[in-house]
Amino acid sequence: MNYRHGYHAGNFADVLKHVALVELLRLLTAKDKKLFVLDSHAGAGGYDLAGDEARRTGEADAGVLRLAPADRAGMPAVVGRYLAAVAAYDQKFGTGRGPLRHYPGSPRLIRAGLRVGDRFVACELHPAAALALKREFAGDRAVEVRQADGYQALKALLPPRERRGLVLIDPPFEATDEFERLARSVQQALRRFATGCYVVWYPVKDAAADEFIATLASTKLLTLELRLGEPVEPGKLAACGLAVINPPWRFEEAMRDALPWIAQRLGRGVSATVRDGRANVPAPAQE
Ligand SMILES: C[S@@+](CC[C@H](N)C(=O)[O-])C[C@H]1O[C@@H](n2cnc3c(N)ncnc32)[C@H](O)[C@@H]1O
Repeated sequence: MNYRHGYHAGNFADVLKHVALVELLRLLTAKDKKLFVLDSHAGAGGYDLAGDEARRTGEADAGVLRLAPADRAGMPAVVGRYLAAVAAYDQKFGTGRGPLRHYPGSPRLIRAGLRVGDRFVACELHPAAALALKREFAGDRAVEVRQADGYQALKALLPPRERRGLVLIDPPFEATDEFERLARSVQQALRRFATGCYVVWYPVKDAAADEFIATLASTKLLTLELRLGEPVEPGKLAACGLAVINPPWRFEEAMRDALPWIAQRLGRGVSATVRDGRANVPAPAQE
């Protein structure tokens, strides 16, 4: 396990994933019913964009840092809410003046969207990242951090007693069989908890992404993808997607509105694709 999210925090892939995550949380907490959230591959929780890892790649420069100073006029509401959540995290460390420096990972964004009574479990397998995550939430009783295999956690924790849930699955894709393991785990999770809302991040490099999406054909599915238009160095990420299973009402509309704007702001010929699963069989809605 060599992957460190610190090298990639705030890049274009994080922008896509985190804009969607903030919006999903908002929509799923609009109902007066308790929500369970599982982040199966949670990372360290927060990242210093001026730190060594982030500066070595500069990926945030072509991601969140392109959006953060943007003129709010014409900005889609979902992007505004994402940037407000990012700024609120950054402000915990200082005045919030000056360029964005502290970027929230998915557990921090989830925590910020929870209500009293909602439940959140964050799993991270890497010892150092898990320790950082435990420190990030030390003393916070609303968050349970587990140093554990996220795929095992899907089996152990689903279905949740709340019967309403958001599950983020964001693997590092270091292992050559990650797509296969992911596909098996999502199918198992759906058998246990068919009505949950699942958000799965995936890299788009070859046919493997399409093959993975094909395994979700029987679900109510929305896929969102971002592609860089410029060539990237060999081995670097050029495109990525999010598969959202059982998206809440209004999510698709909000993302269709936001993605072209995000793509245009990111520049570098970035293009966005949104595909719904009209041919797919709709799953029953969460209560
Ligand atoms: C892409 S990063 C997560 C980023 C995070 N979700 C975010 O958006 O801020 C993937 C993380 O999964 C961890 N990891 C790798 N294999 C894992 C497993 N089987 N279970 C849980 N975590 C794992 C890695 O150490 C890494 O921190």
